[in-house]
Order: sequence, then structure tokens, then C-alpha cells
Amino acid sequence: MELIDKAIEYVNELFSGNSDGHDVQHTIRVYKNVQLISESYPEVDLFISSLSALLHDVDDHKLFKTENNANARAFLNENGVSEENIEKICEVINGVSFSKNRGKTPGTLEGKIVQDADRLDAIGAVGIARTFAYGGKVGRPLDDSVQHFYDKLLRLKDEMNTEAAKEIAMKRHEYMEGFLKEYFEELGE
Ligand code: NI
Repeated sequence: MELIDKAIEYVNELFSGNSDGHDVQHTIRVYKNVQLISESYPEVDLFISSLSALLHDVDDHKLFKTENNANARAFLNENGVSEENIEKICEVINGVSFSKNRGKTPGTLEGKIVQDADRLDAIGAVGIARTFAYGGKVGRPLDDSVQHFYDKLLRLKDEMNTEAAKEIAMKRHEYMEGFLKEYFEELGE
């Protein structure tokens, strides 16, 4: 889909120079996770879920000072996406944020899948890499980054909405547990 390539290009330009894990690679991994989870749900609207995945961080309040999904809306408008679909996409995007949506489950299948896809990218080997990359950027000691696994990352497997994501999360969760075990063994703790 041409629009998918355009969205990747748009995110690439918007995030150029950002290295805290919210970059174009994260976006592409979330998009790929959406495709992977969606294989188990043929009824999903892939147009909505794919564009939501690609645009889910373009109005992130940590990175941009936009209101009301302004960046996402501008991109979608420019590319001729209907008002109805723009609203659907913005609703999915607004359901993704972990901090804003603790305990809330998105109302649509597309919303559930994109939220799962984003959370999957926070765990496993990629999750470990992102945690320490972010810690390095903000000058956080290793132990504080390790604490982040207990505060957030090890809980994510129980917060998946879809069975397909739960299955992927289990494997990634075990990998993180193995990492932590080895880490503390090396520290002699
Ligand atoms: Ni994200």
C-alpha cells in the first residue's frame, strides 16, 4: 500500500535524530507486530490498524507539543483519508499510551491489537535493549533500569488484550526473566 510507505517516510522525517526508543524503528516494529497478531484475526480492519500503528507516536506528548492528534490528522488529511477513518484511527492511537490508559481496554479489535503490538515492543530482547538505551540517554544507573523491569515490563504479559499477543508475550517474558536471573547471578546477588 502506497500510503503505508508514505506514513513510514513521514514518521522517519518527524523522528529523525531521536534515540530514546521512540524512533522510526520502533514504529516499524509495532506495525510488524500488528501484521503478526492480525494473522489470527481475519476480521480486523488492516487499513485502520496499520495506519494507527504507524502514526501512534507522532503526537506523543513527550516528543511533540501537539493537541488533538494534530500531526496524525494533518498527515491523513493530506493523503485523502476520509473523516470517518481519521476519527477511527485517532481513537485507536489514543488508546495505545500506557500511562494514559492503565487498566482501560480499547473498545475495538483494532485498538486492542495496536495496544498489544506497542506493548510487545517493550518486552523481550528488544525491550531489554530499549530499556538500557533509554537509561543511557537520561543518565540512569543500570540498577534503576533493572528496576523498570519490575515496575512495568514484567507486568505486560498479563495486560495483553488478544490471545495471539499473549502467546508472543509469554516467550518474550521468559527471555527477560532469564536475563534478570543471569544479571543478578553475575552481580553475586
Ligand atoms: Ni510506541
